Parts: sequence; structure tokens; C-alpha cells
Amino acid sequence: MGMFGNMLGADESIFKNEFALDFSYMPKLVLYREQQQRYIASCIAPLFNNRNGKNLLIYGKPGIGKTLACLKVTEEIEEKTDEVIPIYVNCWQKNTSFKISLELCEKLGYRLTHNKKTDELFDVARKILNKRAVVFIFDEIDKAEDYDFLYAILEDIHKKSIILITNHKEWVATLEQRIKSRLMPDMMEFRPYSAKETEGILRQRVDFAFVPNAMKPEAFNMIVQKTVAMEDIRTGLHLMKEAAQHAESRSSRSIDEQDAEHAISKIDEFNIKSSLDLGEDERFILAIAKSNSGKKIGELFKSYQDSGGISSYKTFQRKIKKLEQNRFIIVARTDGGSEGNTSIIKYNSGQSKKLTDFS
Ligand SMILES: Nc1ncnc2c1ncn2[C@@H]1O[C@H](COP(=O)(O)OP(=O)(O)O)[C@@H](O)[C@H]1O
Ligand SMILES: [Mg+2]
Repeated sequence: MGMFGNMLGADESIFKNEFALDFSYMPKLVLYREQQQRYIASCIAPLFNNRNGKNLLIYGKPGIGKTLACLKVTEEIEEKTDEVIPIYVNCWQKNTSFKISLELCEKLGYRLTHNKKTDELFDVARKILNKRAVVFIFDEIDKAEDYDFLYAILEDIHKKSIILITNHKEWVATLEQRIKSRLMPDMMEFRPYSAKETEGILRQRVDFAFVPNAMKPEAFNMIVQKTVAMEDIRTGLHLMKEAAQHAESRSSRSIDEQDAEHAISKIDEFNIKSSLDLGEDERFILAIAKSNSGKKIGELFKSYQDSGGISSYKTFQRKIKKLEQNRFIIVARTDGGSEGNTSIIKYNSGQSKKLTDFS
């Protein structure tokens, strides 16, 4: 092989289809979520027989296929019938009853929305929707600022299933009673993928995204491992794209360990930077946890006080909890023997915060 034998030519690429790594790319086959999709379908099924559907609350961590599974179901409805209308709304983007009513009108092809109020817009949508059956999917439902739209749908749309998706199961407890008692949803948890499943999903994308043999097994394994640790498929998609771009930037025909390493180190750096989101006292506590990693919470509090910390023990505990929730630290609750139960605090080096958990 000549000196440039393994170099990428100017018009060559290791990508076959770079879009296959986009978060919004819809693979034809959704792996490992068949059971969940079947459950969603069973909630909707009565609508096809002119009966009312069930409501469903889907919950689980970010990046584990909740949105994808639901969008696939809407795709199938669209292929199967015109009698059931699927409507998908992301409540992060459309976070008020006004914006959602507007969105309903636009999705239904009604254009004369200018200067209309929420009620008027909803009324337009209601008249169209009540001629058919409707499957509503409200994604990131906990991001909505008000829930009047839910109440209106529950009251005024006759044949429907309402599917709500959230990362936070506890959200449902915050709903007003008048909505809760009408909604009565089934609950379905999405669990993070196992290591094998994570690998399978990423393998599928490798085949779509890259020319054959471009992704070296060692690099792929590193990316799979990081993704398993983060429990978020988006991490894997992002890492594969970053690694591939790094490989191309050094004109390599293959994605090697060094490319995976580069991509992983970049997200670790990002994770550490995101610690800047913390308040001053929390950062102080984190620094103390870092230099005392593996100590008991009581000892940590003492170090904190000795170093000039002024929060009470209660506040300190609350901040530890926040740091834990954001994965800056790992808290192990142990049976401390004669001293009773205690918590061991470990600094979570490297992957303190998930790249894609914006909430
Ligand atoms: N089972 C799966 N098969 C193929 N791709 C998946 C699967 N689960 C998740 N993904 C991909 O991972 C990313 C995150 O999935 P998404 O459904 O958006 O997660 P969530 O809604 O749970 O946050 C998307 O790009 C999606 O296509
Ligand atoms: Mg989602």
C-alpha cells in the first residue's frame, strides 16, 4: 500500500447517509419497542370501531424511544385510514393553550387564524375533529404552561385517545383534579435499553449511515459503552457523527479508536462545562464532594462547614440531592451498621450531566 493508500480522496466520504444519524431521522424499523407499540395500538384500537379510545401516559428517561415509538404509530394510522386523525404536538415548542389551538388549526388546514382567540381557534378545530376520531399525542407534556387545552379536549372532543409523554412520572400528580378525574390514563413506563439493545440500535444506524467497514469495531464498542453509561441513544448518534467527522478531518477512510476517543472527550468536556449552570453554593459543594469523593455525607458537611460553607444541614442535603439528580455525584445509601444508615457521596467524574437532558 502506498503512503496515501488509506487516505480519503477529496470527493470521497465515509458517510453513506449522514442524515441517518440525525435525531429526527425515523428508521423504518423501531427495534425493541414492539410490546410498547402494541400497547399504544391497543389504546387506540377502539377508535377504529367507532368507540372511544383509552388515554395513556408514557413516561421514562430521555433518549429511549418514547417519541419515536409514538410517531411510528401515527405513521401507521395515516397509512391505514382517514377516519382516525393522528395529531402530534410537542409541548416544549407549543407550550400554551393558545399556541396549541393554533397548531391544531394549522394541522387541520384551517388558515384564517389571524386575530382569533384561543377559544375561537379551538372551536374551529373541534368542529373539524368531531367529524372523525382523533389520536392526540402531547409530547413533553410537563413543559406546557397551562392545561386548559387538555380540559377542552377532554370535554368537547367526542371520539379520542389522548397520549401524553413525559420524562417525569411525578408530573401527573401536579394536574388539577378536574383534568385528572377526566383523563384517567393508563400508565406505561419505557425503560432504558439494555447494553445489548443499545448496541443493536446503534449497529442499525452504522449500517444506514456509513459505507461498509468504515466503523472499526473497537471504535464502535467504545461508543456503545459510553451510550450504555449515559442511557440515552442520542449520545450514541451524536458520538458516531462526531467520530466520523473527526476521521474525515484527518482524511482517514475508517473511524478508529482515536476518533471515538476524541468524540467522547468532547462530550465529557461539555458535561463539565454544564456544571456552570449550578449556583455558587452548589458548585462549592460539588468541589468539596470532588476532593472528598467516597466520604459519608456527615463528613462532607463537616468539610463544607470547615471550608466556610454557611448552609444548614437541611439545605446541604437538598443541594446534594440536586447534584445527584443531575448526575454530578453518585449517592450510595448504605446500612452503616452500629452507626445506622448513611449516604456515601462519590464524585461522578466525566459524565456528570447528560448531554441531552435539557430538563
Ligand atoms: N428502538 C429504537 N430503534 C431505533 N432508533 C431508536 C430507538 N429508540 C430510540 N431511537 C433513536 O434515539 C433517538 C432518541 O429517541 P426518542 O424517541 O426521541 O427518545 P425520547 O422521546 O424517549 O427522548 C432518536 O433519534 C431515535 O430515532
Ligand atoms: Mg421525546
